[in-house]
This record gives sequence, structure tokens and C-alpha cells, in this order.
Amino acid sequence: MSRHRRIWTLCFALLLLHQSLKASTAAAAPAVAPVPSKNASAVTPSASARAPSASSPATAPSVEASTPTDVASPPPKAAPAPQQLGSPGSSPSPSNSTKNGGAPAPKRPASASNGTLEPAQARALSALGISVGTDPCNTAAQRNLICDDSVPYKHLIFLHLEYCTMGQVFPVAAWDNLTTLQSLSFSDCPAKQMALPKELLETVTSLQVVASLGRSEENVLAQGLTGVWLSKFYNVRKLVVQDVVVNVSTLSFITNNMTHLQELIFSNTNLTGALPKKWASEDLISLEVSGNDMEGGIPTPVTQLLKLNSLDLSSCNLSGSIPSALGNLSLLQTLKLGSNRLKGQIPSSLQKLATLQYLDLSDNQLNGSVPAFLAHLPALRYLDLSKNNFKGQLPFNSSFIKSLNTFKVGSNAQLCYNSSIISSKLVTGLQPCDSNGLPPAITGDFSPSPAPAPETQGPPPSSHHHGPKRIVLIVAIALASIIGIIVIAIVLSRCCSSKG
Ligand SMILES: *[C@@H]1O[C@H](CO)[C@@H](O)[C@H](O)[C@H]1NC(C)=O
Ligand SMILES: *[C@@H]1O[C@H](CO)[C@@H](O)[C@H](O)[C@H]1NC(C)=O
Ligand SMILES: *[C@@H]1O[C@H](CO)[C@@H](O)[C@H](O)[C@H]1NC(C)=O
Ligand SMILES: *[C@@H]1O[C@H](CO)[C@@H](O)[C@H](O)[C@H]1NC(C)=O
Ligand SMILES: *[C@@H]1O[C@H](CO)[C@@H](O)[C@H](O)[C@H]1NC(C)=O
Ligand SMILES: *[C@@H]1O[C@H](CO)[C@@H](O)[C@H](O)[C@H]1NC(C)=O
Ligand SMILES: *[C@@H]1O[C@H](CO)[C@@H](O)[C@H](O)[C@H]1NC(C)=O
Ligand SMILES: *[C@@H]1O[C@H](CO)[C@@H](O)[C@H](O)[C@H]1NC(C)=O
Ligand SMILES: *[C@@H]1O[C@H](CO)[C@@H](O)[C@H](O)[C@H]1NC(C)=O
Ligand SMILES: *[C@@H]1O[C@H](CO)[C@@H](O)[C@H](O)[C@H]1NC(C)=O
Ligand SMILES: *[C@@H]1O[C@H](CO)[C@@H](O)[C@H](O)[C@H]1NC(C)=O
Ligand SMILES: *[C@@H]1O[C@H](CO)[C@@H](O)[C@H](O)[C@H]1NC(C)=O
Repeated sequence: MSRHRRIWTLCFALLLLHQSLKASTAAAAPAVAPVPSKNASAVTPSASARAPSASSPATAPSVEASTPTDVASPPPKAAPAPQQLGSPGSSPSPSNSTKNGGAPAPKRPASASNGTLEPAQARALSALGISVGTDPCNTAAQRNLICDDSVPYKHLIFLHLEYCTMGQVFPVAAWDNLTTLQSLSFSDCPAKQMALPKELLETVTSLQVVASLGRSEENVLAQGLTGVWLSKFYNVRKLVVQDVVVNVSTLSFITNNMTHLQELIFSNTNLTGALPKKWASEDLISLEVSGNDMEGGIPTPVTQLLKLNSLDLSSCNLSGSIPSALGNLSLLQTLKLGSNRLKGQIPSSLQKLATLQYLDLSDNQLNGSVPAFLAHLPALRYLDLSKNNFKGQLPFNSSFIKSLNTFKVGSNAQLCYNSSIISSKLVTGLQPCDSNGLPPAITGDFSPSPAPAPETQGPPPSSHHHGPKRIVLIVAIALASIIGIIVIAIVLSRCCSSKG
């Protein structure tokens, strides 16, 4: 009898334990689950060397409408000890794109024919210092080159050169045999800028130069990468020039003849002069000119590139105001104008940007009030208004701020928030308004308010914000109930056994 009861008690306790654990994990789940972010679209490899079709260069790969984050992400600055150029093929480099400085990770042709690389091209690769085995096209580890599917011999369509020795010279004759290339990429390759055959300049539709070329043994900083050289690739759809000094008067000298351009990155290139007054291509999808010391403001022609979905003009010392016509760029997902000298107000036309996800206006001299329409941009997930001269009361509520992944608003001395609408935790670096809706420091006198010291880190996403506290609470409750159940079980079993 007593044994029965004891077993029953034990079963009951176990059931309770199970239930309470289930309940607590269920309660914890929403707190831990990642926030589904609209931002999280697939990161697609650039399509620069896709759709290999040697016979028809017209169907050359096109730039995909890649995600803003994809396009905008700076290339990883992985600069290990420079290797000899011979190593790219032979080095056991995993298929890990952090090594190639933002070069595309193109797909190989789907159907592999059983031909091998044309002998002249294999010789040319050797002449460039790339060790080629019996069949360079088929080496699984070979990610620095891609061949097409033509018969009887395959041809190179993509070539990536990295970790060259300083001032290395690529023989001109080698390039003469590589005129099937559609995509050419250099990273951490401080070789000498070389003359290229005219045919090659025609076939290349994707060119990337990251921390490469433009240097010589005599003078590391010599401006060897010239605008003239770059301008010859007039057929490119994608042009990436990054972390290398370019000697050119204006960007338009280079882009003037690039009528097919879809993606342009020109960042940290010591570019001067104004942004182009004219674009040869209407097909630009992604435009990044950043980290250059430019002249002038944001010219109207940029606002006429109606296919843009990403525009990044950060850190270019641009002056003037934000053109109202930017609101015409109805496909824009990313707009980065941070770290310039832009003045005036945020134009109301930006409320038309229904797909805008990422807006960075930080570190400018923008003034006026923060417009309320920002809270109604349906796709917005990243908002940085910090380090400006915005005034008055922040027109947002907590639920809007929590809907963002990132919100930064600090270092706006005359901006404040209504503490009965917004939790102070959500607006780091801002002061609460007084009863007149003004920052307390500037109501009485006109002395400059003590600038809010804390650096302007926005709040983490809302669930993360409450997550830890909630988890602790749930764990505590679960533990307490387990202990309670055990105590009850012990007591019950004791009294039962004493009875029996
Ligand atoms: C790439 O390689 C680096 C170092 O070899 C490693 O730290 C990193 O996690 C790798 N990334 C991916 C996506 O494999
Ligand atoms: C590839 O090999 C198969 C049989 O091994 C042959 O039928 C086919 O014609 C070959 N193709 C090429 C392009 O050489
Ligand atoms: C390129 O091809 C030509 C013949 O067309 C040949 O004379 C030359 O040696 C080749 N160059 C290399 C580096 O293979
Ligand atoms: C830039 O190129 C011009 C000629 O195009 C040349 O005169 C000048 O010296 C170059 N500047 C530097 C710093 O190399
Ligand atoms: C651009 O094209 C025009 C006409 O096609 C030509 O005259 C000019 O030299 C080209 N400019 C460059 C830099 O290639
Ligand atoms: C390029 O710009 C960087 C940073 O502005 C500067 O340190 C460097 O001296 C410049 N190089 C040349 C060759 O002008
Ligand atoms: C930005 O432009 C202004 C005006 O041309 C100039 O005085 C200033 O030195 C520039 N700033 C930088 C960082 O080059
Ligand atoms: C662009 O916007 C401006 C003002 O915001 C407007 O006057 C102009 O007509 C627009 N242009 C186009 C092509 O939509
Ligand atoms: C998208 O998410 C990444 C991290 O997943 C973040 O770095 C980036 O700022 C986000 N972009 C937007 C627009 O929220
Ligand atoms: C904003 O700054 C400009 C000068 O940059 C000034 O003319 C304008 O009156 C200011 N607007 C407000 C609302 O403070
Ligand atoms: C917060 O602001 C947004 C946008 O202005 C609005 O749609 C929403 O109803 C507001 N939520 C609350 C709880 O007031
Ligand atoms: C702050 O918000 C509360 C609640 O909406 C409102 O009653 C109060 O007037 C606001 N304060 C200011 C200064 O606008």
C-alpha cells in the first residue's frame, strides 16, 4: 500500500516537474527567438562571373540587386604576410571569401565539360606566377580562376590575383592570351599597373581593385593607379576601386564612357573634385563613393539614377543640403550620407522612400526638427541621426524605436525626448524635455547646454533588451517550483511511509 502511494507521489511530482519545465521553456522561447528582420535578405555572391557564355559576350553577367548590406559592407582587411603570387592556386585556402578582399565568389559553370584549359592560357597563367596543375579548371581548391565550358578547350572567364609581391611586374604577353576574361580582380596585390590589350578591356565586365596596383618598389605611396587606366574599362558593369590612391582629377573622367555601369564602389581612393555632373549609365543600382575628400555637394544627377537601391556618399566632406529630389529614388533601400558637412533640414520628400531600410545621416550639421514621418517609413530598421544640430522634441514613441535594429540619436545638444512617451533606456545620449518640450539646459538661459557625454549607441533590439531579465525571472520561477515539488514529494513520502 505505502509503496503504491509512494510511487504515485513520485509520478505526480515528476508530472508537475515536467509541466513546469515545459511552461517555462515555452515562456522563454519568444524572448530568446531571434527577431525576424526585414534586413535579413540573402547575401548573394556578386554575379560578376556568372552565366559563362564565351560565345556571346553580350549576355555577360549582370550585377544583381544585392542587399544593401552586401554591397555596402567594407571588404575585410585581412592582410597577412604577403605571399608569393604563385601560392593562390596551391595554398590550401578554404572557400572562405574573407581572404579575397571583397572579390566575388562566383559560381562555377553547372555542367562541367571534360575539356581542359587552352594550353596558351595555361602558359599565360604560369607567366603571371600562378602555378597550374594538369587541369587548372577542375582543381577543387582553385578559387582564383573560373573557366567556361567551351570545347575542345575551356577558357578563363574569371581571374583573381592576390598577395602579390611589391612592385611585381605582370608580363604584357601573358594578358594577350587572356582576352576571354570577363571578370578581373586584384586584392592586396601591389603590382605595377600594366598595359592591357584592347580586346581584354572590351571583354571585362567586372573589375575590382582592392589595395592593389598603383605602387612601385621605389615609392610605396606613388600614385601609379591612374584614372586613365581605369577609364579604359568602358564596358564594366561592376567597378570596385578601394583602398588605393587613384590619380585622377574627377570621378567623371573615369565613369564618362561606362555606359553599362550598374555597381560602382570608389572608396578610400584619395579622390578629389566633385561628384559627376553626368552619368553615362542610367542603370546604376548601387553607388558608393566614400572615404574621399571631395568638393561640393550632392549634385542633381545622382537623384536621377532612378534604379538605385543603395547610395553611400559617407565621409566625403560633402557640403550643401540634402537634395529634396532624393525622394525620387523610390527603390532606395540604403541611404548613407554620414560624416559630411551637410546642412539644413531633412527634406520631407524622403517620406516617399517606402523601401528604405537603412538611413544614416550622422555626423553632419543638419538642423530643424526631427521629422515625424521617419516613424512611418515602413521598411526602416536602421536610423542614425546622431552628431547633428537637431532641435526640439523627438517625435517618436517607444514602439517605433523598438521596431528598429539600431537607433542612434545622441550628440544633438538641443534635442530632447518626452520621458512619459519614451523610456530613457531607448534614447542614449539625449536629455528628457522639460514641461515646455525643450531640453532643460537651454530653457533658462542661452548658454550652451552641457553636451550629453555618453557615446551614442542606440538601444539593442527590443526583445534583446528585455530578454536577459525575463530569462532570469523564468529560470528563477522554474527552480523555485522544482524545489517546492521536491520538498512536497519528500514530505509526502515521509508521512506515507510513517503511516505504512
Ligand atoms: C574565414 O577564415 C577565417 C580565418 O581563416 C575564419 O576566422 C572565419 O571564421 C572564416 N569565415 C567563414 C565564413 O568561414
Ligand atoms: C566527355 O566525355 C564523354 C564520355 O566520357 C564524351 O561522351 C563526351 O563527348 C565528352 N565531352 C567532351 C566535351 O569532351
Ligand atoms: C601568348 O600567345 C602567343 C601566341 O598567340 C605566344 O607567342 C605567347 O608566347 C603567349 N604568351 C604567353 C605568356 O603564353
Ligand atoms: C598624377 O598624374 C599626373 C599626370 O596625369 C602627373 O603629372 C602627376 O605627377 C601625378 N601625381 C602624382 C602624385 O603622382
Ligand atoms: C569616351 O568615348 C568617346 C567617344 O566614344 C571618346 O572620344 C573618348 O576618348 C572616350 N574617353 C575615354 C576616357 O575613353
Ligand atoms: C591619401 O589620403 C590619406 C588619408 O586622407 C593620406 O594619409 C595620404 O597621405 C594620401 N595619400 C596621397 C598619396 O595623397
Ligand atoms: C572639407 O572641405 C572644406 C572646405 O573646402 C575644407 O576647408 C576642409 O579642410 C575639408 N575637410 C577635410 C577633412 O578635408
Ligand atoms: C524629383 O523631385 C523633384 C523635387 O522633389 C521634382 O521637382 C522632380 O520633378 C522629380 N523628378 C522626377 C524625375 O521625378
Ligand atoms: C542588417 O543586419 C546586420 C547584421 O545582421 C547589421 O549589421 C546591419 O546594420 C543591418 N542593416 C539594417 C538595414 O538594419
Ligand atoms: C538651419 O541652419 C541654416 C544654416 O545652415 C539656417 O539658415 C536655418 O535657419 C536653420 N534652421 C533652423 C530651423 O534652425
Ligand atoms: C507609435 O508611433 C507610431 C508611428 O508614429 C504609431 O503608428 C503607433 O501607433 C504609435 N504607438 C503607440 C503605442 O503610440
Ligand atoms: C509628453 O507626453 C505626455 C503624454 O502624451 C503629454 O501629456 C505631455 O504633454 C508631453 N509633454 C510635452 C512637453 O510635450
